[in-house]
Amino acid sequence: MEKAKPAEEVLPLSDTDYNFVASLLYDRFGIQIGSQKRVLVAGRLTKRVRQLGLASFAEYFTYLRADNSGNELSEFINRLTTNHSFFCREKDHYDFLRSTVLPDLKGRMDRDPRYELRMWSAGCAAGEEVYTLAMVLRDFFGPSTDGSDLGLLATDISLQALKAAKEGIYAAAKLSELSTAMRSSYFRPAGAGLFEVAPEVKRMVLFKRLNLMAEKYPFKNPFDVIFCRNVMIYFDQASRSSLIHSFYEHVKPGGYFFIGHSETIPRADCPFEYVQPAIYRKRGP
Ligand SMILES: C[S@@+](CC[C@H](N)C(=O)[O-])C[C@H]1O[C@@H](n2cnc3c(N)ncnc32)[C@H](O)[C@@H]1O
Repeated sequence: MEKAKPAEEVLPLSDTDYNFVASLLYDRFGIQIGSQKRVLVAGRLTKRVRQLGLASFAEYFTYLRADNSGNELSEFINRLTTNHSFFCREKDHYDFLRSTVLPDLKGRMDRDPRYELRMWSAGCAAGEEVYTLAMVLRDFFGPSTDGSDLGLLATDISLQALKAAKEGIYAAAKLSELSTAMRSSYFRPAGAGLFEVAPEVKRMVLFKRLNLMAEKYPFKNPFDVIFCRNVMIYFDQASRSSLIHSFYEHVKPGGYFFIGHSETIPRADCPFEYVQPAIYRKRGP
């Protein structure tokens, strides 16, 4: 009988190592980690250190600092972020879109044929959120549109997550909150219990890498709807506050901002008007 492989030994992570990781995550990405993440950090980064043929975290950090291309920083953040998501997560947000937001937007588009609908999934992980949005839009507006006029943008810091998003292939468990109708209309079996998002839905979305901690975002025009759900949980209060104000600048008057249900915006620091749990609106027509 074949012997079980010994589990890969996790490299020792000193206090100095851990502080370096924590500072880098905070300074470059706004992500705050407490001391309880030590085992996770050591485990995830050990794999990378070994892959590079290095012997210790100290050697790895020297390598990381010397890499001016930004590629290793990208590998580093890919390994440390959590990209957990699934289709139709927090379903009442999509119900609210169908019942309130989309009819209002359709009215605007009917009145002004040049009206540009724009939606942004900020922190899109592997695409589950933005593809759910695309499917809801397609159900609402009908298949006559090829989606290119429904400007759907999805961004994330993790290149790995964005690659998976563009591939659009998922395990069945990720689809379990979707209605049977949506599952059968918008997915094709991809073998081995996997499902692939239909090409007409994939075509509706533009994926881009963006660090939400960037000082300026490269958008000329504001959005009707921004989703930034279950992303700010990683940030401290100061970073969250500045991010919420940046989002406010990028929402059209009358547009909406959605956050995760486990997140809150302190009332005193909220430029948006509160609509219902985890849904906010910028005052306007
Ligand atoms: C838990 S997922 C949330 C996915 C989806 N929005 C949802 O609610 O299901 C958090 C995502 O935020 C991304 N993220 C974390 N920090 C970021 C940053 N500074 N800039 C952009 N994306 C970031 C992670 O890579 C990850 O994909």
